[in-house]
Amino acid sequence: MPRSLTTTHPRKQPARQPQAAFATLLQEAIASHQAGDLDGAERLYGEVLQLQVAQPDALHFLGVLHHQRGRSEAGVELIRSAIKITPRHPDAHNNLGNIHKECGRLREAEACYRRALECGPTHHNALSNLAVVLEAQERPEEAFQAYTRLLRQAPQFAHGHYLLGRFLRQFAQNVGHIEQSAEHFRKACQLDGSNVRALQALGESLYLLGRQDEAVAVYRDWLAREPDNPVPRHMLAACGGSAVPARADDDYVRDVFDAFADSFDEQLLRNLDYRAPQVLTEALSRCLGAPAAALNILDAGCGTGLCAPLIRAHARRLVGVDLSGGMVEKARARGGYDELVVAELTAYLCAQPATYDVIVSADTLVYFGELRPVLSAAHAALRPGGRVGFTLEALEGDAECSELSASGRYRHTRACVQRVLDVAGFREVNISADTLRREAGRMVAGWVVVACRGVI
Ligand SMILES: C[S@@+](CC[C@H](N)C(=O)[O-])C[C@H]1O[C@@H](n2cnc3c(N)ncnc32)[C@H](O)[C@@H]1O
Repeated sequence: MPRSLTTTHPRKQPARQPQAAFATLLQEAIASHQAGDLDGAERLYGEVLQLQVAQPDALHFLGVLHHQRGRSEAGVELIRSAIKITPRHPDAHNNLGNIHKECGRLREAEACYRRALECGPTHHNALSNLAVVLEAQERPEEAFQAYTRLLRQAPQFAHGHYLLGRFLRQFAQNVGHIEQSAEHFRKACQLDGSNVRALQALGESLYLLGRQDEAVAVYRDWLAREPDNPVPRHMLAACGGSAVPARADDDYVRDVFDAFADSFDEQLLRNLDYRAPQVLTEALSRCLGAPAAALNILDAGCGTGLCAPLIRAHARRLVGVDLSGGMVEKARARGGYDELVVAELTAYLCAQPATYDVIVSADTLVYFGELRPVLSAAHAALRPGGRVGFTLEALEGDAECSELSASGRYRHTRACVQRVLDVAGFREVNISADTLRREAGRMVAGWVVVACRGVI
């Protein structure tokens, strides 16, 4: 999204000088772009480029827009054309880096951010992006240097404190790093009261440090200020400050994941060790045999669509369902689905009797404490002989129980999962232990579960 030009001008009369006309059109295009009207913006950038073929801002922002619409390579070409005309434009290098970053080309992204910083050494966004891609390339020392340089240059940059807090917790080697992360999250909240991710992260770090009372206080204060906000309500329960719900509230899931969708690139990059889609689809593929594009498959809690390329070869028809419209839009841009539905999972499954051959659900049932309703609905939504596969976070112990952890996600014991699947009527249950992602410097233990709906 263009950030450097924000002025909106009303449209001028039709008879205009080419120079004035393109400037006005460009402002209109940018205003439409910033307002999220991508169709209108694309048309207006096109008109600018008809009036002045190589107008660099129009090329640059149209490149960003192409990427937003899933045409990333066309976007790269347009921004490169803009850079040929104005080679020392830090925003253009930064945005080109963002496209490479979101397409997973971390080396290219790094080079672009470095170029942006040569052109504009105090470009905070380029510096924080550089730190993020260094972190994503598992170069923590260099990432740490970039974060510290950023905060030396811009000590009041709230997002920089948030990012450094995340980095310190992600790569924590001792309790001191978690303590420092809490301090940076606190600073980010002080500098920008609207930074809710920093507030949530502060509560999580305090809880990890065993400072449960302080974590509860963070969420209570937040809830007192915003009584209708489902996020502090859920997180208060997650650190023992109120009753635990049977599953995460729909509003909580929507709020959290709509926000997550916006920062998808960054979160994904920071979670290089996120393995749930891979380990789950591998486990399912072992049961399904060679891909024959013959199955009706549901990606339950599809998120941004990471499972689609991994399971697509088995699917005659692949449907994704998710509560978060923001995540579904990302999945749509990624492609690979025949249909995408924004809906609550249990309700959706209940309305699809005997429809699917396979239901795959990576890292989604972690938002369900009570698994029975959703797995019974999954059983009914499968055809006889169909299979369900899902991941969960593991809770140690022999009892049949689950708990809501400080992260806001539920964990379940193996016995609990086995029992719920038995009651729901599943057969051939296979529950294996694996690691799903890295959190606070450690790999999170999980269950990879595959089960079958009996033929009769
Ligand atoms: C951590 S993401 C995982 C997304 C994707 N499966 C993946 O592995 O990348 C969890 C997803 O589950 C969705 N979700 C959580 N609870 C849900 C519910 N009750 N109904 C539908 N979707 C839900 C969230 O919106 C989110 O997109």
